[in-house]
Amino acid sequence: MRQPMEKLPPDSSANQSSPQRRFIQVCQYRSCQRFNAEAVLTALKQHTSPNLMVAASSCLGQCGSGPTVRVVPDNIWYCRVHPQDVDEICAQHIDQGKPVKRLLHPRFHPDYNRLLQRLESQNEAL
Ligand code: FES
Repeated sequence: MRQPMEKLPPDSSANQSSPQRRFIQVCQYRSCQRFNAEAVLTALKQHTSPNLMVAASSCLGQCGSGPTVRVVPDNIWYCRVHPQDVDEICAQHIDQGKPVKRLLHPRFHPDYNRLLQRLESQNEAL
């Protein structure tokens, strides 16, 4: 005689969304180096997160507003980043998916609310 199947408890991991993996490029070319881009890169590399990869890049074409930092796949551009900004970028953007408003490059991100809407629709599409 078959025993009735026990009902399994709900899979608690099924509904948890894992943080999105991100790749950060930090310009290490001339103009950005003059404004301490190497220290920004070093500070980012000290953050250990399975959701974060960091690499130096050549000129990202935003030389007048460096150090320039670009986050993909969000395609977020930060300008005039200082080493002391790195903790905030990691805690707010990398871990929570919300870009740091005060560091956004205004050429690429003139409207913060529109940016948040774009990111939200991208995340829904994933
Ligand atoms: S030197 Fe950094 S963006 Fe051009």
